[in-house]
Amino acid sequence: EVGLRRQLIDVHEAATQYFEAALKAPEAARAREYLTGRGVTVETIAKFRIGYAPDDFNHMREQLAKHFTDEVLRASGLFSAKEQSDGGQGQLYARFRKRITFPIANEQGKTIAFTARALDAEDEKGRPIAKYLNSPETPLYSKGQVLFNLDKAKAEIRANDFALLVEGQMDCISVFMAGVHNVIATSGTAFTEMQIRLLGRFTKNVIVNFDPDAAGAMAAEKSIGLLIEEGFVVKVVTLEGGLDPDRFIREQGITKYQTFGYYATSLRAAIRHSDFLIDRARHLFPGRTSDAKVKAINFLLPHIRRMPNRIQRDEFAADAAQK
Ligand code: GTP
Ligand code: MN
Ligand code: MN
Ligand code: MN
Ligand code: MN
Repeated sequence: EVGLRRQLIDVHEAATQYFEAALKAPEAARAREYLTGRGVTVETIAKFRIGYAPDDFNHMREQLAKHFTDEVLRASGLFSAKEQSDGGQGQLYARFRKRITFPIANEQGKTIAFTARALDAEDEKGRPIAKYLNSPETPLYSKGQVLFNLDKAKAEIRANDFALLVEGQMDCISVFMAGVHNVIATSGTAFTEMQIRLLGRFTKNVIVNFDPDAAGAMAAEKSIGLLIEEGFVVKVVTLEGGLDPDRFIREQGITKYQTFGYYATSLRAAIRHSDFLIDRARHLFPGRTSDAKVKAINFLLPHIRRMPNRIQRDEFAADAAQK
């Protein structure tokens, strides 16, 4: 008997191929236009095995049911089950529909889950829909234990002795295709201790390059805190023009990213995390009143306390006090 894990790996490979083929079908014309519009090339699609989940509840299940048991399909997270009033097992239907699919791979590069992006902001009835939909937790996949693109990035992370950390899959894919290969994504979720330990096997140096918006700044603060606690050296890059890495590359061009981006994303040019946080405190609590100063210091104190090294802690505190 083949184990459930192995079968779940196999069903995810089959689903990856299903979505890849679906992206090439006539009905996926809009999906292809969407990707082209975002500057995603045929080469990128092949490299990241990007696909399309058709607007169909049953077809993929019918195809996969030829090779996999109902138990495996249920455990895969690729399907949702219709609610049964008697509490029994309901009919399965496709979880991802009318979405661009991105495989999430384990460290060995095997697909273990998907994240899928909607083509539109609203459904047919004008109701807003979630931009991204992810696989649920399964025996194969635990969100907090995976780093997007680690399989492709790990050798370069080790060779460069640092990782570039971005928020979104699209950011990660664009940066990677622009030639910076030591890039991974948190996928918008809060960074977990497990993810940091995983990364720690390859490097203790991280450059954080999150989206330059309120959500990105908050996510950066949280991730910086966790990384510092685990003994990482953290630097921060904020791209100019208020653009996320993906849009920066798209709007300013790959050449500009490769000059500005390569430079800014080198360990030397990125700013220290303490300077990023002091800037952040000044932005959040502007003015020279004692109230603003107290609030700024209260914001910074937990970050200062977190530094495991006494000398660095003193330096951070002195900088904060002075600025
Ligand atoms: P694009 O519009 O596709 O470029 O996304 P973005 O740049 O707004 O994504 P951002 O980099 O801000 O998002 C970070 C990550 O958060 C995404 O890659 C997703 O993994 C996740 N995310 C974003 N929106 C949603 C959502 O509506 N639901 C869930 N579950 N995750 C989301
Ligand atoms: Mn982004
Ligand atoms: Mn964002
Ligand atoms: Mn967003
Ligand atoms: Mn984006």
